Amino acid sequence: MQLPNYQKAKSRNKDQVIREEYQKNKQYQNLGRGKTYHVKTYGCQMNEHDTENIKALLEELGFQEEEDYEKADLVLLNTCSIRENAHNKAFGMLGRLKHLKEKKKDLIIGLCGCMAQEEGVMDEILHQYRFVNFVFGTHNLHHLPDLLYENLKSKKQEIEVYSKEGNLIEGLPVKRATSYKAYVNIIYGCDKFCTYCIVPFTRGKQRSRRKEDILKEVEELVKEGYQEVTLLGQNVNAYGKDLEEHYRMEDLLEDVAKTKIPRIRFMTSHPWDFTDRMIEVIAKYDNIMPSVHLPVQSGSSRILKLMGRRYTKEDYLKLFHKIKDTVPNVSMSTDIIVGFPGETEEDFQETMSLVEECQFDNAFTFIYSQRENTPASKLEDGVSLKEKEERLYRLNEKVNAYFLKNNQKLIGKVVPVLVEGKNTNGKDGLYGYTDTNKLINFAGDISLTGKIIPVKVTDAKTWSLDGEIDES
Ligand code: SAH
Ligand code: SF4
Ligand code: F3S
Repeated sequence: MQLPNYQKAKSRNKDQVIREEYQKNKQYQNLGRGKTYHVKTYGCQMNEHDTENIKALLEELGFQEEEDYEKADLVLLNTCSIRENAHNKAFGMLGRLKHLKEKKKDLIIGLCGCMAQEEGVMDEILHQYRFVNFVFGTHNLHHLPDLLYENLKSKKQEIEVYSKEGNLIEGLPVKRATSYKAYVNIIYGCDKFCTYCIVPFTRGKQRSRRKEDILKEVEELVKEGYQEVTLLGQNVNAYGKDLEEHYRMEDLLEDVAKTKIPRIRFMTSHPWDFTDRMIEVIAKYDNIMPSVHLPVQSGSSRILKLMGRRYTKEDYLKLFHKIKDTVPNVSMSTDIIVGFPGETEEDFQETMSLVEECQFDNAFTFIYSQRENTPASKLEDGVSLKEKEERLYRLNEKVNAYFLKNNQKLIGKVVPVLVEGKNTNGKDGLYGYTDTNKLINFAGDISLTGKIIPVKVTDAKTWSLDGEIDES
């Protein structure tokens, strides 16, 4: 048994990470034969992508995917720690699984992802959730077959969570969610330690993949006919800072653009590491999508300082406008937290004024959630939940109005759309995403799925557009 340890998770060293090729263990080949699995994923794109690896690992063992978790022989929860409600959802699901297991004695239950890296969570699993068969963390996903094997053999709860990162594993099998859009990890972990955030503890230190491995993966995707890659990392702009050779995000973006993959996106950018060259590269290549997610978190420089974001409101606005002015037609989105400990009405008004200036195309807004062991969790918080909810409501009213206003500007324009399939609006309806990452619904044949086509925008709503295929 190996349990998480915050002290270790917090420590950072300058050691070069060792790259290791994943080795499949033939011994486990038939472990899942005749059995089914279901994976529930919470959290960010990184978790979604991890799930793609997990599914492929399980299928290598002979398991087959089952859509209905109640029918599956193995249920695995890939969890998220970012806010309290992500936690609650996973624990709620564990409760349901407990009941299910009372009826289905052989049900295998696993837990992985960011919650597995939390000391408090693992303490609960160990003492109150004995029915969970196995647990692994974010650093040893590739040990899934071993843990499963051990659990089936010993019938004892197997817990293996490392708080030190270990080697960077290449060559994991992957079962991608679609055949036209793919996630590609470029950097793991985060060294920013924003004071409210648990990610630097759950995902470890910043580690960049080698450019050769990334480019090889993208080139293979191009060969397979993929239309879009999203380069993933908690802070993609820090890409390369830990590598020996001088090769940074702008260099990688340029090389990925040269592979001729039709669409490139990247997530997430921290304003701190956004260089002028990066902006120029985004502007230069048509296949780098004009859409930048630039989380601001707060418009108050005082709160930004307490958050440890290392930029002021003015720094953010300067960068924001530089991107807007340099990248033609760019859409900008952000993340905002309200109710950080000690946030006053004046601080909140600073956020509102920043929103008025930036007029974001999209924004993810959250109420601050206290996370175990983070520096902000020790701060005095005088703001009531009611007040925080009220601020969130006012903020949402404002951001929503700008989403609509920006969408309305597109009416009558023809935009390129990657078709993703049938929408939920009814018959003949398709949906897709524009180059600027806006959801658009239009009539068309399902066979267009996975293709990039021109669509004329006919109407605009707050969170989506309506359109018709442009035949001209
Ligand atoms: N690495 C990304 C963010 C990853 S988490 C970045 O720094 O931009 C996604 C978003 O969740 C963050 O941008 C932040 O707005 C929000 N978030 C993170 N920790 C939070 C917390 N403790 N409470 C509320 N929201 C939080
Ligand atoms: Fe969390 Fe900050 Fe790292 Fe983003 S940059 S993952 S908010 S610590
Ligand atoms: Fe959640 Fe972990 Fe992602 S905490 S947001 S799943 S990195």
